[in-house]
Amino acid sequence: MSETITSILEEHRSFEPPLGHSGSIASLDAYQALCAEFTEDSDASWGRLANKHLNWNKPFTEVLNRQHAPFFRWFEDGKLNLSENCLDRHIANGLGERNAIIWESEAGLVRHISYNALLADVCRAANAMSALGIEAGDRVIIYMPMIPEAAIAMLACSRIGAIHSVVFGAFSAQALRDRIEDTAARLIITADGGARRGAIHALKPNVDEALSKGCASIEHVLIVNHAGNNVDMRAGRDLDWHDALKAQPDQRPPLSVDSEHPLFILYTSGSTGKPKGILHSTAGYLLWARLTMLWTFDFRAESDVFWCTADVGWITGHTYSVYGPLACGGTTVMYEGVPTYPDPGRLWKLCADHAVTIFYTAPTAIRALIKAGDTWPEQHDLSKLRVLGTVGEPINPEAWMWYRDVIGQGRCPIVDTWWQTETGGHMITPLPFATATKPGSATLPLPGIDAAVVDEYGNEIKKGSGDGGLLVLRQPWPSMLRGIWGDDQRYIDTYWHKFNGSYYFAGDGARCDEDGYFWIMGRVDDVLNVSGHRLGTMEIESALVSHAGVAEAAVVGRPHDIKGEAICAFVTMKKTIDDSMATALAAELRAHVSKEIGAIAKPDDIRFADNLPKTRSGKIMRRLLRDIAAGRDIVSDTSTLEDQSVVQQLQQRR
Ligand code: PRX
Repeated sequence: MSETITSILEEHRSFEPPLGHSGSIASLDAYQALCAEFTEDSDASWGRLANKHLNWNKPFTEVLNRQHAPFFRWFEDGKLNLSENCLDRHIANGLGERNAIIWESEAGLVRHISYNALLADVCRAANAMSALGIEAGDRVIIYMPMIPEAAIAMLACSRIGAIHSVVFGAFSAQALRDRIEDTAARLIITADGGARRGAIHALKPNVDEALSKGCASIEHVLIVNHAGNNVDMRAGRDLDWHDALKAQPDQRPPLSVDSEHPLFILYTSGSTGKPKGILHSTAGYLLWARLTMLWTFDFRAESDVFWCTADVGWITGHTYSVYGPLACGGTTVMYEGVPTYPDPGRLWKLCADHAVTIFYTAPTAIRALIKAGDTWPEQHDLSKLRVLGTVGEPINPEAWMWYRDVIGQGRCPIVDTWWQTETGGHMITPLPFATATKPGSATLPLPGIDAAVVDEYGNEIKKGSGDGGLLVLRQPWPSMLRGIWGDDQRYIDTYWHKFNGSYYFAGDGARCDEDGYFWIMGRVDDVLNVSGHRLGTMEIESALVSHAGVAEAAVVGRPHDIKGEAICAFVTMKKTIDDSMATALAAELRAHVSKEIGAIAKPDDIRFADNLPKTRSGKIMRRLLRDIAAGRDIVSDTSTLEDQSVVQQLQQRR
C-alpha cells in the first residue's frame, strides 16, 4: 500500500455540506429517500427517471431485460436520438442563443458557440459524413485536439447513428493503428495539429503513418485546419473539414435509433493484452450523463458555467466535457492547452475570465498546482466557483484540503467522484449539498448504484471493520458498458467471471468505514494510474520488448508526489551492457515506448539487470520489484527467488 493511501485511510476530518440549498438532491434525507425508492423497485425508479429526463421518439416497453445477463438491455423498444436530446430539444425550449461551448485556445483565442450554431455545424458535419457514405453502425475514429470540432464530430456521429471512437491526441501512430484495426473504422476525423506548451503538436503525420500499413477499412480522412500546420493531402482519401462542411446544408433530421444502439467505443487498458474497446450504448449512457450532472454537481443549466478539464480522448471528457453538460442544456468550457502555460495561474485565470461556477479536474493537476504556490490562484477572482470536483485517482487529504481552502475558499463543497470508463458516469461520490465529506473518501454510492466491498469469495466485508476488500457493483445500471468491442468472452472474463456472473468486478480495492463511506485504495490488478491515466503494465512491457535489443521487461508502479504513480521498468537486454551505456540506452527505450504507445507511457525509471527476479517456476516477482522501485525495505518473501544476486544488482542500479 502506498504512503498516500495509508495517509488517506487514517483521515478522520469531516465537513458538513452547506445548508439551505434547493438543489436536485438537497439533503441527506432526500438522498436516502431516493435510495429507498430504488430499493423498493429499481426498475420503476429507472423507468420514471428515463421518461422524465430523456426525449423519446418511441417509448420503451421494458426498463431492464436481464435475459442475456451480463449482456443487459435497457429501455427496450424505445427510440431516440442523442444529438436531438443534446441540441434540438433545448433549442425548441427557446435556448438556441445560450452558449453551448465556450472554447479557449492556449494562445488565448476565445470562441462562444451557441446551441443554434452548434446544431448547424453538427448537421453540416453529419451531412458531410453521409456524403462520404457513412451509415448507421459504421465506426468513425476521432483523433483531435481539444477543439469544438471534436465535440461537433462526436455529436454528428450520433445524429446519423455512426459509432465514434475518440483516440487521445497524444497517442502514437501505432496506438492509433491498433484502434483503427480493431474497430474497422471507415473514416478518421483529425486536425493538422493542436497546441501544446506554446508549440504545435502535429496530428496528421501520425494518421498518415498509421495508414501506411494495414488499416484497409479507412476510406477517408477529414482534416480540420486548426493550427496552420502544413498538411500533405492524399488525393481521393483526404478532405478538408471546412470545405466539406461548407458544401452541406445546416439541417439534418436526427436518426431515431434503438435505446441500445451503440454510441461509442473507447479504448482503455486492462491487466492483460491490448487495450479493450469499451462499448457504450445510447439511452442508458445519456440518461446517466444527464442525471449525474444534476445530482453530483447540482448543475443548473440556466446559471452555471461548467468546466471539466479532461480531454475528450478520455471517458471524463466524453461524459463531462461534452455529453453531460449538453444533455442538460448548459454551458461547457473547453480549453486546448496545458494547465501551466504560460504560467501556473492559467486554470484559475480561465475560471475567472469565463465565470466558471463548477470546476472538475484530476488530483494530479491539483498536486502540481499546489507546488506552484498559492500566489497563482490568489491573483484571480474565484468567487463564482460553487462546486469543485475531482476524478481519476485517489486524492490525498493534503491536496483535498488545499482545493477546499485555497480554490474553494472554504465555501465550495468537494465531490470526489469514483467511476471508470466502463461505468460511463459517476458511481460513488458525495452530493454537494447533501453529503458530509471526509478528505480522501468518495463517500456514498449514488441512488440506484449498489456498490459493496467484498472478500475474495464475494462476502460483504463488515462496514467499519477496517479491512480492505474488492469493490463490486451488485446490480446493473443504465450507463454500464455493454461489452468489449468484438470480444464478448473477454467482457465476461474481465468483469463478471470473478464472482460467477453475480457482481461486476471493478478491479479496485476499497474499504468501507463505519458510516458506509467508501475509501478507494487503488487497482488490485496490473493496471497503473499515472496522472489519472490508466495504463496496463503489460502494454508497456510489450512496447519495451518490441525493441530489438530487449530480451525481457517487467513494469511496476511506484508512489509519486504529483503523478500518483510513476512507471518503473526493469529491463534485461539481449547483450550484456555496462553502466556507461545505461543512460543512453534508457533514453532510447523511453523514446521507443513513446513511439509505440505515446508519451504518457514513457517509463520514469529504467533499471537494467542481467536477469529479472523470478520464482523457481519462472514467474516474475512483481511485489519484490514494487519494493525495489519504491526504494522500500524488501518486505516480500524472497525465499522462492531463483537467483538471489539479482535483487542486489537491481537495488544498486537506480
Ligand atoms: O482505479 C480507479 C481510478 O481510476 C480507474 C478508472 O480509470 P478510467 O477508466 O481511466 O477512468 C478514469 C475517470 C473516471 C478506477 O478503476 N479512479 C477513478 N476515480 C477515482 C479513482 N480512484 C480513486 N478515487 C477516485 N475518485
